[in-house]
Amino acid sequence: MNSISLRNFIALLVLVSTGIYAADKGKDGILITLQADDLKVVQAGETVYRAHCASCHGQYLEGQPDWRKRDANGYLPAPPHDASGHTWHHADDLLFEITKYGPAAVIGDANYKTLMPAYEKLLNDQEIVAVLSFIKNTWPAQEREWQEQMNGNDPNEMGMVKEKSSLLEKLLK
Ligand code: HEC
Repeated sequence: MNSISLRNFIALLVLVSTGIYAADKGKDGILITLQADDLKVVQAGETVYRAHCASCHGQYLEGQPDWRKRDANGYLPAPPHDASGHTWHHADDLLFEITKYGPAAVIGDANYKTLMPAYEKLLNDQEIVAVLSFIKNTWPAQEREWQEQMNGNDPNEMGMVKEKSSLLEKLLK
């Protein structure tokens, strides 16, 4: 093996191992990547958010009061999707699967009590990617960087665009 092919071989090993670490394809075996820096996608997602998510997760992604406490019937209120919640703790693909299949299916417990709908029959995959891209676009740099690490990415090498959606701009005014 000459030095160039050895280097390629090592690069391939690194790729394969980081791939295995990063690419958690979840229950459907498809790895979804959000498009939080594509403003067209983000704007389409904002429309989806207002129509399908804001009623529970709040107009400003603020969630419902006391969202960590289950109510008398055992249901959790809707959590915030802004930096005060924990949506940004989850990798892109997991967020996609929670939204598409619902929390009960993702946890693998059909009896899990939740008010979060499964959007599989209500939204197509592109709409789900768009709405989550919108949510992700609103996160501050620190949460974005943390979440990219959950995706197995190095935020420093991503050249992340920091353009914000209109909702966030309104919030910051
Ligand atoms: C009827 C109210 C309701 C609507 C509408 C709703 N959600 Fe939820 N959502 C919830 C509740 C309640 C939870 C908490 C999950 C649980 O019960 O364990 C949740 C949790 C989530 C989570 C997981 C957050 C985390 O930190 O783990 C995501 C992601 C999510 N919702 C996305 C969405 C998106 C995207 C939409 C719109 C397409 C939406 N939700 C619409 C009630 C709702």
